[in-house]
Amino acid sequence: MEQKQLDKFKLWFDDYVAGFYGDDEIINANLKLKEKHSRRTCKEMLYLAGELGLDENQKRLSETIALFHDIGRFEQFVKYNTYSDVRSVDHCRLGLEVLRQAKVLDGLDRQEKQLIEKAIEFHGRKELPEDLDGRFLLLSKLIRDADKIDALYVVTEYYKQYRDNPQEFRLNLELPDGPVYSAEVVEGLLCGQRVDYSRLRTLNDLKLCLLGWVYDVNFTPTLKRIKQRKYLEKLLGFLPGTEDIERVKEKIFGYVDFRIERNGR
Ligand SMILES: [Fe+2]
Repeated sequence: MEQKQLDKFKLWFDDYVAGFYGDDEIINANLKLKEKHSRRTCKEMLYLAGELGLDENQKRLSETIALFHDIGRFEQFVKYNTYSDVRSVDHCRLGLEVLRQAKVLDGLDRQEKQLIEKAIEFHGRKELPEDLDGRFLLLSKLIRDADKIDALYVVTEYYKQYRDNPQEFRLNLELPDGPVYSAEVVEGLLCGQRVDYSRLRTLNDLKLCLLGWVYDVNFTPTLKRIKQRKYLEKLLGFLPGTEDIERVKEKIFGYVDFRIERNGR
């Protein structure tokens, strides 16, 4: 794809998203979150693409995927008032419908269009399909990593706002807050396993689950970024200082350092 096609996509994105804002402040605030997330994810994607030495064309494809990966979020929120896919629709598939209806990607060659669509479709799945390979696999892995980097930024900011000013906090935390966490969530992390979302009972479980994302990271530069921004330390700062949590910290930090070091050799 050419640079001018990417430039056109950016203009289309601005225009499309601007069309959703209206009089409702809560809706506007929620839309803004995803708009900013999409823009920041583009930057993380370009960082990763650079670190991995992708060529200019692959960088443009990567940026397009990042720009559009959550394009379904805007219609989802305006229609259903939630970002929960379980309670509404699969936002990845909705995103594909949005792009197809507006014929946004129609000027691209067939394989590049497919690459973008597949990466968007699979970005929210628990696992990537096993039969993906080559550029399909690379770009699908990349968006999952870039998305995680920015999601960690978003949640650590939320938790800070919530801790500092709980009365003013307007976003839905989805899970009950309290000092409790589940033993099985801790055990899973200590065994090097990701936490299944269905196992989450409390807000602390969710924070632990976010720490466990490191096990699902595809590329070492992603771990470097997470480390450099201290997202794991920040998450741990919102958890109780028990022995269990200390063990989880050691395990997770050890894992991250091991992968970074292994890659450096
Ligand atoms: Fe998404």
